[in-house]
Amino acid sequence: MPRMADITLTRIDKLYDNGFHAVKAVDLHIADHEFMVLVGPSGCGKTTILRMIAGLEEISGGEIRIGSRVVNQVEPKDRDIAFVFQNYALYPHMTVRENMAYALSLRKLPKAEITQKVDEAARLLSLHEQLEKLPKQLSGGQRQRVALGRAIVRHPQVFLFDEPLSNLDAKLRGEMRYELKTLQQRLQTTMVYVTHDQIEAMTLGDRITVMNKGVIQQVGAPTAIYDHPWNRFVAGFLGTPTMNFLAATVVGGALRLASGATLAAPPAAAEALRSREGRSVVLGIRPEHLVARSAAAAQVEVCVELVEAMGDHQLVYGSGLGTARPVVLRADSHLRAALGERLSVGLDLAACHVFDGEGEDAANLCLPPGYPQIQGPALRQTAA
Ligand SMILES: Nc1ncnc2c1ncn2[C@@H]1O[C@H](COP(=O)(O)OP(=O)(O)OP(=O)(O)O)[C@@H](O)[C@H]1O
Ligand SMILES: [Mg+2]
Repeated sequence: MPRMADITLTRIDKLYDNGFHAVKAVDLHIADHEFMVLVGPSGCGKTTILRMIAGLEEISGGEIRIGSRVVNQVEPKDRDIAFVFQNYALYPHMTVRENMAYALSLRKLPKAEITQKVDEAARLLSLHEQLEKLPKQLSGGQRQRVALGRAIVRHPQVFLFDEPLSNLDAKLRGEMRYELKTLQQRLQTTMVYVTHDQIEAMTLGDRITVMNKGVIQQVGAPTAIYDHPWNRFVAGFLGTPTMNFLAATVVGGALRLASGATLAAPPAAAEALRSREGRSVVLGIRPEHLVARSAAAAQVEVCVELVEAMGDHQLVYGSGLGTARPVVLRADSHLRAALGERLSVGLDLAACHVFDGEGEDAANLCLPPGYPQIQGPALRQTAA
């Protein structure tokens, strides 16, 4: 029987016993079969939200629904959820097969059915040749897959993952990302995945929820959030290297930078800037939208401080724009830039962002017209 396993959080709050308000009026809808990633800096409340969905943490206010059922009072074991933690402890004295079968034997399923389910999951995870081994005879990635296998055999409605890949090295993480994504496509199960790794967030999520200090900042498809960050926090959180931020003052509708240079207003912000004469704003521009020696109409000049060769491209760090740290631009690998050189840099104004003030909450004035509704003070839902 097909089950609907969408998850609806309505004004969810978490106040810990010591009075700390870890999650603040979170509204979030996770669609059936969706891969939703919760991302944000350490301590922003990601694990707390997962644990509340799983029923491992009491909620202080609000309502959680899975499908049409309110689960606030439902025991964790009755929520039909599988949780994979960062520190997945496998039973060291049990084989891979026994580890994967454990939850099913507790439920007293018939032996033949257990064998069939474990074999199926093992094939899915390419573990079928490892089934008789002990955990210590496996690589880190294989062990991680056993932990996934233990969850998969239960055929839950919902998978919850809390930084499941953070113990792996970069190469294995890349491989496991691929496996997880294809797994989700095959299993067609709702997945909620917590990470503070923005590359995992961008690559895995059908949608991403960006959080800060217990509050949702933005929800949307990865590229929508990358291209149209709602505020300065989101703009600075996604993207490596991070977006460049240049303090500016609105003068005659244009932007005067701290270095004294003046730039025309980015077209998307022109109207908003007309009513902000004399105000402080922040110009945001990603490294790939700063182009060395380009013919762009908007130009600035930087002094080259450092060049990092990345193989297929290079990162050029330049000072002189009045920022505390050098700005960084992404150049193709053929660019020759000498240390100390005055380098002219073109700005793609159409790709710039202007933030309405200097704080993390400062709104982006460059969002397309009709861009997403705001639902309540805490939730900024963006189009999927
Ligand atoms: N039992 C507790 N009592 C009091 N405060 C807690 C408790 N558990 C967590 N917190 C606090 O709640 C906040 C959110 O914690 P949470 O574990 O959800 O963060 P997180 O986003 O998962 O961070 P990380 O990326 O470091 O895992 C943190 O500031 C944390 O210190
Ligand atoms: Mg956590």
